[in-house]
Amino acid sequence: MAGDRSQIITFANIKGGVGKTTAVVNIAYLLAVEMKKRVLVIDSDDQGNASKALGIRDQHDLETESLWYALKHKKSYRDVMVESAYEGIWVVPSTKDLKGAQLAFGQSVRGIRLFQKLLKQVEKDFDFVLIDTKPQINILLQSALAASTWYLIPSFPEPDSYDGFIDLLAEAGEIQEEFNERLACLGVLLTSVKKIPAHETYLAFISKHMKKANVPYFKSHIRSSNSMATGSLHSCPAVSLPGSYNIKEDYMKIVRVILRQVAKNKSSIMIPNLEVLGISGPHEEFGLEVNDGNEQVEL
Ligand SMILES: Nc1ncnc2c1ncn2[C@@H]1O[C@H](COP(=O)(O)OP(=O)(O)O)[C@@H](O)[C@H]1O
Ligand SMILES: [Mg+2]
Repeated sequence: MAGDRSQIITFANIKGGVGKTTAVVNIAYLLAVEMKKRVLVIDSDDQGNASKALGIRDQHDLETESLWYALKHKKSYRDVMVESAYEGIWVVPSTKDLKGAQLAFGQSVRGIRLFQKLLKQVEKDFDFVLIDTKPQINILLQSALAASTWYLIPSFPEPDSYDGFIDLLAEAGEIQEEFNERLACLGVLLTSVKKIPAHETYLAFISKHMKKANVPYFKSHIRSSNSMATGSLHSCPAVSLPGSYNIKEDYMKIVRVILRQVAKNKSSIMIPNLEVLGISGPHEEFGLEVNDGNEQVEL
């Protein structure tokens, strides 16, 4: 990729279990293995799911090779990153003691600046840096957003995920204003979508509202797939499994959109306008009109 700066993408949603980690590891795999890009994954969730899914196991000394070690001892990410099980993917692993970051840095600007500085030292070694985050507004999420060029919002096609990503958009807006004016929204990505009326209704809702609020969203989504459970079982990205055609096709479309978007001039990227979204989320919007497809009520 041209230039000496990598594209840094934070994957975030204030709601948990919406496909953030799944998106990070599958997109990392396709960027590295299929598109031959150099990818660094920073696992900033103390659960360490992204590290596990990329094959980072006990052979590494996570005492000294981890994000927390780097932050605590001001070590370059180069000193703590490890090679994943996949060619072209490196990982700054997470450990449970990453929880200490909130206590150590609180809301301080020091933590945000440190994260930015450590990332700057390694970013030119990679085409992409993907940051997996915890579903919580904390110093690590703020630091990731402050150091990123982009943020991507994975979301399930359900009203409960809606508040999570509206909160995230608001937080990202503040970080952009205060610390990082180049930060832009890459898009809302709907994951685990089924061909059922409730999801189709939600998709229509999102498309209408995101357009109104200038929030970019990926027109193609990730279908629900059993390969995800198989991937979790074997601790690997689902797209690396033989036979995972649908999920690979879906994520490949997203990867192509990402490559197109990052090549664009940033000034053509939409700036979200949350005010027009108002307070009415999909619960109110749908009211009693949601049809579960099982019953057709005619009055
Ligand atoms: N497209 C999909 N189809 C089926 N299950 C999925 C899909 N995407 C994610 N999942 C499952 O949803 C759960 C939550 O996903 P995960 O990526 O861990 O979410 P988060 O990182 O946001 O907490 C996991 O069990 C994962 O396997
Ligand atoms: Mg996760």
